[in-house]
Amino acid sequence: MKKSVLSCIQPTGDMHFGNYFGAVQNWVRLQDEYTCRYGVVDYHAMTMPYSPKKLRENTWELIFNLLATGVKAENLFIQSLVPEHSELAWIFNCFASFGQVSRMTQFKDKSQQSEEKSGGFISVGLFDYPVLQAADILIYRADYVPVGKDQEQHLELTRNIAQRFNNVVGKEYFVLPEPLFTETPNIRSTADPDRKMSKSAGEKHYISVFAEEAKIRKQVRSAVTDTGQPAEEGVMSPGVANLFELLKAAGAKEAHSRLMKDYEAGSLRYVDLKDAVADALVALSNEFRNKKAELLADKKAVKEQIKASSAAIRKEAQQTMKEVKELSGLLNVRF
Ligand code: TRP
Repeated sequence: MKKSVLSCIQPTGDMHFGNYFGAVQNWVRLQDEYTCRYGVVDYHAMTMPYSPKKLRENTWELIFNLLATGVKAENLFIQSLVPEHSELAWIFNCFASFGQVSRMTQFKDKSQQSEEKSGGFISVGLFDYPVLQAADILIYRADYVPVGKDQEQHLELTRNIAQRFNNVVGKEYFVLPEPLFTETPNIRSTADPDRKMSKSAGEKHYISVFAEEAKIRKQVRSAVTDTGQPAEEGVMSPGVANLFELLKAAGAKEAHSRLMKDYEAGSLRYVDLKDAVADALVALSNEFRNKKAELLADKKAVKEQIKASSAAIRKEAQQTMKEVKELSGLLNVRF
């Protein structure tokens, strides 16, 4: 039996190279070795102030983007098409420790953002977010969860919920899932390498995977290299390091080692490094953009395919829910 992998991503619009190299590329690779389920978590996207119309658009947009970058349709589902996630989350609310959920650092960051965005509003859903995440994972009895280090606390909570459930019902029912911290590159903003590449910081801080070639080249060309302060002897400046990281992540091995030699010899011209990075990103982007155009040419068929894969994945979630209700003392009647 193959081990199973579960991971999810929020539909927040445009996909940038930080998302792609930091998570999606890894998802694509894991498909060869594991039974994979990847969710677009629209329930999670409602925890922050949001627009209903945009939410649905972003959900489909992300589905098309994931398919274009190599995630297989049969592994993909949309969270709200599997409403058992939210049902299990309620049950898990009763097995999650209030104290532990109160210590989640992602909540501390996001509640501040929520307040700023909405003039003081923080939803209960935002507080409860990690409990829903535990349901996403445990409902498929996943062995591994590929996530970034920032999700470590949520995984710990997930394991604690599973343990408490198992103790209360007197059965080792849930597998305790392990995080899979695969080595993924840490991509910085090219405009300000001291911060992560991310959408929340604004347009110039991320390079969209599906942007036009000219735009990608322009953004790479204007990347910050040395920030003015003299770099410490023998320490690469963060901007230059980020360009090398992008080159490596994009699989341009030959260019990477050639330019690294130049750097070590003190003869690297930044313009050459930038050209190489732009070439590598544009090559990937062209491939993905073409694939996406193909998919968009038959939008309806793709949507039907994802509804069907969500329905198939839902069957597993329903089986778990049936067993969970049985074990936890709820009624289990089929009407
Ligand atoms: N919290 C995750 C993030 O911010 C997204 C997520 C939701 C997730 N449910 C999940 C990740 C289940 C892994 C497994 O990136």
